Amino acid sequence: MQIADQIPYKKDGELVLLDHIPKTAKRLLDLGTGDGRLIKLLRTNLSSLQEAVGLDVSPTMLNMARDYFKNDYSVKIMAHDLSYPLPKDLGQFDAVVSGFAIHHLTHERKRALYREIFDMVKPGGIFCNYDHVASSTPRLHQQFLAKTTVKKEDKSNKLLNTEVQLEWLREIGFTDVDCYWKWLEYALMIGVKPGDIMT
Ligand SMILES: C[S@@+](CC[C@H](N)C(=O)[O-])C[C@H]1O[C@@H](n2cnc3c(N)ncnc32)[C@H](O)[C@@H]1O
Repeated sequence: MQIADQIPYKKDGELVLLDHIPKTAKRLLDLGTGDGRLIKLLRTNLSSLQEAVGLDVSPTMLNMARDYFKNDYSVKIMAHDLSYPLPKDLGQFDAVVSGFAIHHLTHERKRALYREIFDMVKPGGIFCNYDHVASSTPRLHQQFLAKTTVKKEDKSNKLLNTEVQLEWLREIGFTDVDCYWKWLEYALMIGVKPGDIMT
């Protein structure tokens, strides 16, 4: 069993993410893809998917993802540090997803990245950020630590609450913005780009 599968309720959030990806989505972008976990989930469950691109900065994770998808030419795994602007030549996507990666970025970069993502989502397409977010109170943070295997702070975490991030998504122009699922510090934040909404 992967570490990710031992995190309480993590799979529940992923299933809600899967449920909201349009059933006609053809092109998928995964930011901070890791071993390609979200791409695997969506490739397995969405027959419409024709192409997926996964970005990550870690050579170890890139190797794992590339190895897993080595015989699947519809999946492209690319090295990219999300601290810098997204590559310009990737085109637009029906769905942009991210799992537990964006919280590593500074708040300023998170906001700038959300703008870049807006430009890369096709009209009517969707952005799903399933991420580690800040607790609303110190007591809830202690509860989170007590209920998970996460026993001490990861120094690279730059946690931000959902309210601020959802407001940014609205300001940028996403519609139907909400937190579609949440358990303590795990949140699924979604926005849809205005256009003919994909189903
Ligand atoms: C907890 S893992 C999650 C992997 C996968 N998305 C999942 O849901 O299982 C976080 C991933 O984000 C990547 N990551 C962290 N900071 C990043 C950055 N600045 N640019 C690109 N990827 C980054 C890490 O290398 C790692 O693979």
